[in-house]
Amino acid sequence: MAKFNLNINGKTQEVEVDPSTPMLWVLRDHFKLLGTKYGCGIAQCGACTVHLGDDAVRSCQLPVSSVGDKDITTIEGLSEKGDHPVQQAWLEVDVPQCGYCQAGQIMTASALLEKNPNPSDEEIETAMNGNICRCGTYTRIKKAVKIAANSVNA
Ligand code: FES
Ligand code: FES
Repeated sequence: MAKFNLNINGKTQEVEVDPSTPMLWVLRDHFKLLGTKYGCGIAQCGACTVHLGDDAVRSCQLPVSSVGDKDITTIEGLSEKGDHPVQQAWLEVDVPQCGYCQAGQIMTASALLEKNPNPSDEEIETAMNGNICRCGTYTRIKKAVKIAANSVNA
């Protein structure tokens, strides 16, 4: 066991865990940030996506010991009132079906737009490619990412 000071959603918080513990379980079990989901556990589905600094990362494969002082942002910390442009676009298009994959989808889309506010269809496709949706909401996701991009650029 070891102690770690983690910057999560703008707050520094301490946790004592095995250094190999994936951030997914630190977030869910220790900090009760349950928006980040467990899907596959092997970096193949994107349900567990959070931001590490500006990057979208798979928290199921991110050992707590590798985070250091980088900022972690989860879906709970993306915006104060759930009104990030990506979240607003998701509402406008009514993207979710069961909802299970959607926090991961939104975290991937928001990281994309942070780096590339005007992505092409191909760039959206590439960025979102690793986020699996069992309900097949892909068409609505693409539409919402475009709406969010337009609102970011407005
Ligand atoms: S649970 Fe992390 S990628 Fe599937
Ligand atoms: S909305 Fe059900 S898995 Fe994506």
